[in-house]
Formats: sequence, C-alpha cells, structure tokens
Amino acid sequence: IGITDASFMGSGSERRYEDLCRNIINDMNQYGLSVVDDFLGMEKGLKILNEVRSMYNAGAFKDGMLANMKSDVQSSTPRGDKIRGDKITWVGGNEPGCSNVWYLTNQIDSVVYRVNTMKDNGILGNYHIRERTRAMVACYPGSGTHYVMHVDNPNKDGRVITAIYYLNIDWDAKESGGILRIRPTPGTTVADIEPKFDRLIFFWSDIRNPHEVQPAHRTRYAITVWYFDAKEREEALKNAKLKSSQTNNASAITQQAEPDSTT
Ligand code: OGA
Ligand code: OGA
Ligand code: MN
Repeated sequence: IGITDASFMGSGSERRYEDLCRNIINDMNQYGLSVVDDFLGMEKGLKILNEVRSMYNAGAFKDGMLANMKSDVQSSTPRGDKIRGDKITWVGGNEPGCSNVWYLTNQIDSVVYRVNTMKDNGILGNYHIRERTRAMVACYPGSGTHYVMHVDNPNKDGRVITAIYYLNIDWDAKESGGILRIRPTPGTTVADIEPKFDRLIFFWSDIRNPHEVQPAHRTRYAITVWYFDAKEREEALKNAKLKSSQTNNASAITQQAEPDSTT
C-alpha cells in the first residue's frame, strides 16, 4: 500500500488536493484502506497534540466502552484479558479547549466529502456520506494497553468509513509497539500501520477490516471519527426504534457506542 503525502496541504494547491483525494479513492477501492502522511504539518499537528495532552491531564478521559455491551460485562474476555485498554473522550462541537481537534475533524470532513462526491470513485460512490460521529480522542497509556482484534461495525449500524489521525512523535514500533494491524477479509495479507505523528488513515468500518491495536508501551494518542452512510444509518435507527418500542427498553436505541452525530 502506498503512502500518500499531504505535505502540500498548507499551500492551498487545488490540483494537489485533487491528487490526494484521487489517491485515497484508489487505495480504498484496491485495498480497503488508505494511509496519508503529513496531513496537517508539524505546526498544526503540535497544536492538536498539546490540546489533547491538556484534555488528558485535566482528567477528561474515561475507559473505552464497547458497542452492544453493558459496561459491567464488557471489560474483559472469558480469559480475563482486557478487550481494550484505551482511555477516551468525545468531542462533539467546538467545545472550549477543543478548537484544534475541531479544526482537524473539519479537515477530515472536507476530504471525505470530496472523495464521496468525486466522479469515478468506485465503491465510495455507493455511499451517501453527510454525517459522522463525534470525534473519539483516545489514549493508550502505555503499559501494554491494547485493543483486541475486532470489527468497528459488524452489525450495520450505519458507519462505513473509519478515519484515524495519530499524534505520536518519533514513534518507534520496535520499542513501543502500538501497531494497528488490519487483517482484511478475505485475504491472508496484513497491513501494519504505525501510529505516526500527523498520519491520517481511512478504512472501511465493516467486516472487510478486522483490526487490532497491539500492546503499546508508550503513551499513544489517536483521534477517530466514523462516517455514516445515510441509508444504512436510517435503517439502523429505524430498527433500533422498532426494537425499543417492542421491548419497551430504551437501551436498544443506545446499543451503539456512539449514537450521536454531527455534520
Ligand atoms: C478503535 C480502534 C485503532 C487505533 O478505537 O476502534 O480500532 O489505531 N483504534 O487506534
Ligand atoms: C511519550 C509520552 C506523553 C504525552 O511520548 O512516550 O509519554 O503527553 N508522551 O504525549
Ligand atoms: Mn476499531
């Protein structure tokens, strides 16, 4: 898989922005994932990192939750291993102290909107993407914290694209682990992605892309947003409503880890 260089982003070159989007389209169609490096540049990236550190140090982060499970039964496998060891917080709008995360999500939105509406975009043309989740800011606080192999959207909850932005300067995976390993189905190849500073990745959120975060031995920050296909999302909400009216159980509608969305 090629790595697309976005270091021109600050220059405002329309032609190169178009090339960037075309590369993402090609990689998503060919591999189901795409890696973009130097997405915002050192200066912007550092602002985001410092903001995330401040949020973390202010104690805003909580244990990550799993979709479709209650917090008391979800945190470990039958063998007692933790399923995910990250600490997370959600950023919805431009809350105080989140303007740089907000800037990042707007930049990602622009790219996703563009690739979704460009002509000859293959699989991306099957989707109508106008909404996303809030941004999940995640910290794996070292000490071997990880996230076991999983699929983000196994049950058609509406999410079609996962976008992750990494914030880790001089990450050395040999020393610090923390690799995102994607094991596309069908297939035997794996993609090992290092959580490098200012790297943005995209992949299909459904069963095409089981993935794991290997144990991290250093603080590892990432910001994730998930993009909804309008039709799949509408179906999912309809089904959840139906289920909740049948069982009179309001939790059916909150079965997803992150049901809210902003545009
Ligand atoms: C997740 C996830 C991957 C990463 O939060 O669902 O798979 O590289 N994160 O942080
Ligand atoms: C590290 C580390 C802390 C931080 O780089 O290993 O612990 O706030 N960083 O980024
Ligand atoms: Mn995941």
